[in-house]
Amino acid sequence: MASFYLLKHSAVHTTLLQWYETEGRQELPWRLTRDPYSIWVSEIMLQQTQVKTVLERFYFPFLERFPTLQDLAHASEDEVLKMWEGLGYYTRARHMYRAAQSLQHELPQSVHELMRLPGIGRSTAHAIAAFAYQTPVPILDANVKRILYRFFGKKRLAEKALWDLAYQLFDEEHPFEYNQAMMDLGSLVCRARDARCHHCPLHSGCTAAKTDPLNFPEKKQKRAVPIRRKDIVVITCKNRYALKQRTSRFLKGLWGFIEYETNTCSDEKKLGALIQKYSHFHLHADVYIRHEYDDTYDYFTLEEICKLPLSQADIKIVNMLK
Ligand code: ADE
Repeated sequence: MASFYLLKHSAVHTTLLQWYETEGRQELPWRLTRDPYSIWVSEIMLQQTQVKTVLERFYFPFLERFPTLQDLAHASEDEVLKMWEGLGYYTRARHMYRAAQSLQHELPQSVHELMRLPGIGRSTAHAIAAFAYQTPVPILDANVKRILYRFFGKKRLAEKALWDLAYQLFDEEHPFEYNQAMMDLGSLVCRARDARCHHCPLHSGCTAAKTDPLNFPEKKQKRAVPIRRKDIVVITCKNRYALKQRTSRFLKGLWGFIEYETNTCSDEKKLGALIQKYSHFHLHADVYIRHEYDDTYDYFTLEEICKLPLSQADIKIVNMLK
């Protein structure tokens, strides 16, 4: 059985690597470096954000501002969050910052040590180890999971079973190329709503390709995204504006105008309204302006506000004020 898999998979590995050589995105900047820090930055950014967004707006400016792990560790949290502004899922940035502060020089090499750092789960640890240090370990992100479900013809699997399959298909002689190729295959060919099987190097060995690949894995029921209504008040005094730094989990560390439950401010002067879509809810806010001094808040000029890390909704309000 073992030698059968070895034979079968060595053919799969050859076609996958050939495909990566001609069709893969080898020019992505984080694939052209072996610097563990830059690879770490890219992997954290790419956890919940598309390649295009990371590439066009965030990866280079972040590395320009914080070229080394030491630069990141010595920055302020506000500066780090400012460079992350618009990328979302800000816990990623706060975790990276904490990790940088806990490290002396460089990222550790071992998967075990990497996984002890905040924000680095098993797949990200494997990605960093494989890409920076050539460690023979597979990654298991959403794209790779989909390929495994389809290749092995499985509809639903526990995390442990997925890792077993990830190791079963893995090419331990080419950890860098294999893992990058699998990610490209998932985003370019074996896509969630469009499986382009005739362009796929794994086609001949793939179970789902023989039936309907879109049925693998089993589809989850999509939950409707709830709407949260808020009143946001711009409290202003002498050309300065009241802001509060968020301390609760959502958007923690970002600064924002003062929020109230809806319909508490309807008799005040209205500045406008906004909608901001987050992954787990949509914010519908009415925005009001109130002239007063309330010493529970910090006050900033517009120029100072623009230097603080702000949520996308608060950026919209700043634009209303300009
Ligand atoms: N997503 C996560 N890591 C990636 C990588 N190295 N290249 C492209 N997409 C990715």
